[in-house]
Amino acid sequence: MRAHEAGALHGDIGSRGPAWLRPPVDVNALVPQLWPRNVTRDGDGVLAVAGLGVRDVAAEFGTPVYVLDEDDLRSRCRDFRTGFDGVDVYYAGKAFLCRAVVRMISEEGLHLDVCTGGELATALSAGMPPERIGFHGNNKSVAELTRALDAGVGRIILDSFDEIDRLTALARERGVRPRVMIRVTVGVEAHTHEFIATAHEDQKFGFSLAGGAAAEAAFRVLDEGVLELRGLHSHIGSQIFDASGFEVSARRVLGLQAQIRDARGVELPELDLGGGFGIAYTTQDDPATPQDLAKRLRRIVESECAAERLAVPHLSIEPGRAIVGPAVFTLYEVGTVKDVDGIRTYVSVDGGMSDNIRTALYDASYSATLASRASTAEPMLARVVGKHCESGDIVVKDEFLPADVQPGDLVAVPGTGAYCRSMASNYNHVPRPPVVAVRGGQARLIVRRETEDDLLALDVG
Ligand SMILES: Cc1ncc(COP(=O)(O)O)c(C=O)c1O
Repeated sequence: MRAHEAGALHGDIGSRGPAWLRPPVDVNALVPQLWPRNVTRDGDGVLAVAGLGVRDVAAEFGTPVYVLDEDDLRSRCRDFRTGFDGVDVYYAGKAFLCRAVVRMISEEGLHLDVCTGGELATALSAGMPPERIGFHGNNKSVAELTRALDAGVGRIILDSFDEIDRLTALARERGVRPRVMIRVTVGVEAHTHEFIATAHEDQKFGFSLAGGAAAEAAFRVLDEGVLELRGLHSHIGSQIFDASGFEVSARRVLGLQAQIRDARGVELPELDLGGGFGIAYTTQDDPATPQDLAKRLRRIVESECAAERLAVPHLSIEPGRAIVGPAVFTLYEVGTVKDVDGIRTYVSVDGGMSDNIRTALYDASYSATLASRASTAEPMLARVVGKHCESGDIVVKDEFLPADVQPGDLVAVPGTGAYCRSMASNYNHVPRPPVVAVRGGQARLIVRRETEDDLLALDVG
């Protein structure tokens, strides 16, 4: 169910919650797949990350605060690198980007996908080697393309005929031959456990395969000979658990690869399968490991290439959420607890839709735990809501928290590394929270908290 602009999400009202949500045997227990790998409860029952208690984090940095388990993030980079051995792994910076994270993923040997001038500037200012940057976007400006060429980015993913013309003109002017890929819209839409294969795609990204635009784009680039066409690119969705969407998309995109070979005698050397690999937000989700994903994707590509009598191209992927999502939790302080008779208990925290828009925007599900102490109280079905003037300002729709949760308690919401800080807003003039990286018991501020002065500095009227 989507949020209604006039009100709250109305599904599953009552004390039972959704069918999949079970009252926990131990309300203090942490479900391992939901939490960063170095999160535990310490001897006093306080949530701790890499040995540092969240009360200390809150005392030093305030709340709300995004807490990044740096070793968790690094280990997920390594899991993708080793699982996808021989495949270039582009971290999708749209999930969350700051200079410290650029350095982490670069040190772990990943490439980086950016999709605006701002993301490109962040990557370059953190020292990301430009040849390991891929530049996406359906409406890159001339200024952005110029910057990308001047920086020498490794590849530009073409998204429209206008862009082909723009980039061709810029490359001619400069006497350079940038490497490009063509983003193909393959008519597959995959979200969570379902995918839909359609003949055509009604969306703003890429060149339609079914309509013939993708083939025409490839022919135009090859025939003009100004840009170096490295391969085709397809990204089919987000939070995907079912590999069959990739199977249909690989079959379709490799069909185009064969068509290009037959028409122009060229076998493109690279293929990008995009990102979208799912993570666990609640106990409903059971994501595959990068090793398993790699095995399945490789098998799919090899068999489709064999069917088309194509050499297997050099592969790349673009995971964002699966790398940074599980490495972060948001720490909030409870301000009010309101029992709305017979319906549910609303636990209001000091952030909300300005630091996590995904619940309101996508009807996303999250989990939460009482973080500042252990409790002996019974589990109580709660809704964690924010402080914004919007009844759809919900952080966690349904979760069992201890019945004695009270103002001053800290609540932690896991799985908030992706598309939370990067989509954060200043709604209601709320300054955006900081990001703190914790490693070896030490906390390090990597994005500072916005201040009211920051907000007022923009208001020049
Ligand atoms: C082209 C492209 N690649 C990669 C991603 C990353 O997706 P995810 O963070 O779900 O892995 C996206 C997300 O929208 C995308 O549009």
